[in-house]
Amino acid sequence: RYRITQRETSAQILPGVTTPLWTYEGTFPGPTIESRRGRPVTVTHRNELPVPTVVHLHGGRTPAASDGYPTDLVLPGGPHAHPGRAHAGHGMHDPRAVVTDLTRDYTFPLDQRPALLWYHDHRMDHTAPAIWRGLAGMHIVRDDAEDALGLPAGPRELPLMIADRAFAADGTLAYPALPEGPGVREPYLAGVLGDVILVNGAPWPVHETDAARHRLRVLNASNARHYELEAVTDDGRRLDLVQIGADQGLLAAPVTHRSLPIAPAERYDLVVDFSGVPMGGLVRLVNRLGSGRTRDVMAFRIARAAADDSRVPRTLSADLPDWRRPDAVRVRDFAFRAGRMRDGHGWLIGGRPFDPARPDVVTRLGDVEIWRLVADVHHPVHLHLVGFRVLSRRGRPPLPHDAGLKDTVSLRPGESVEIITRFDGYRGRYLFHCHNAEHEDMGMMANLEVV
Ligand code: C2O
Ligand code: CU
Ligand code: CU
Repeated sequence: RYRITQRETSAQILPGVTTPLWTYEGTFPGPTIESRRGRPVTVTHRNELPVPTVVHLHGGRTPAASDGYPTDLVLPGGPHAHPGRAHAGHGMHDPRAVVTDLTRDYTFPLDQRPALLWYHDHRMDHTAPAIWRGLAGMHIVRDDAEDALGLPAGPRELPLMIADRAFAADGTLAYPALPEGPGVREPYLAGVLGDVILVNGAPWPVHETDAARHRLRVLNASNARHYELEAVTDDGRRLDLVQIGADQGLLAAPVTHRSLPIAPAERYDLVVDFSGVPMGGLVRLVNRLGSGRTRDVMAFRIARAAADDSRVPRTLSADLPDWRRPDAVRVRDFAFRAGRMRDGHGWLIGGRPFDPARPDVVTRLGDVEIWRLVADVHHPVHLHLVGFRVLSRRGRPPLPHDAGLKDTVSLRPGESVEIITRFDGYRGRYLFHCHNAEHEDMGMMANLEVV
């Protein structure tokens, strides 16, 4: 059981200036929650921000009531509350106004594979600026089988939330269209980028550590920025990125990459071996797609020789779902493309912007389906409730980084991707959407109903 208060706070992120943030529990990222598979967790959120919020556990297999549907609001309480709503239960005159909607319990059964999940705001039309202002945190699910593998652990297991931000000279976060208003959709069609790269809330951090294997659990929590990560030593060597897991937990077997693309909302679980790096040397985590200072992400300074009894077993997991084409009872097609909406340009799925009242996909609990996704430009597509496997890209076999169980797949410009999944877990109303957070707010989201 956890309690998280959503509140405004200020932090020193860049030297010499203070940045006002919206936070979970006063920090950015919010507190990292660690849970065990199958052990339910309840998180009570209290909203002391000046706006309604919605909490979604990304990657969670969660009953619909706790999944954070975009209109399922936690209304604000606290100092900014509208009259009659502040301090519910204290000094209220209208008995009908004695509401507790400034707090809400979210219950997560976590009956799912161990993985790095994350929680973030999901309010309809307002998700992107809310995440930008700080409403994101990590949630790690573990189990005994994973613990027994002998992977790098303790201080050598590092969850890394990567997010870019832009700052004004006075330290405030710069976001197009803050404050929000009509007619602000068009200036940032491609999504909002920043020129400062934060890792766990700190700009370009340098982490001092041992000359040993490390498990880097990378989450791209950026609104719109794509990365292609590589680990480079200061004598110019590229270290292998040994991928052991995807969005939804461990792969069947490790996959070695020289560099690795990571789209918004994707997670990659990597093991990198620092044992060959000279003492005092630096390993830089670099974004090959960045330029100037956005090329750098963070660095590791190898400060100590150290014993290392960690390992990367050849077999990581045996419970990876392996749905086959003939298992699918239907195939659906979705085009993720720009289009015209009533109030300007928007991003659409199948030609339509998000409408909470319209059931877009209705499927039966337990059905296996193939979805064929096509894109005009880059769109990281995310499904709530389920993990899926990538079946093909451009009609060809998936790429090495498509391995494992995913909940977000990066559609590259002009690309078609097939995914397969079983709609398992819970009945109810869920979502799928582009996880470019600006695209999501501009309509690129649809309802997924499991009946
Ligand atoms: Cu990470 Cu529907 O969200
Ligand atoms: Cu999600
Ligand atoms: Cu998109």
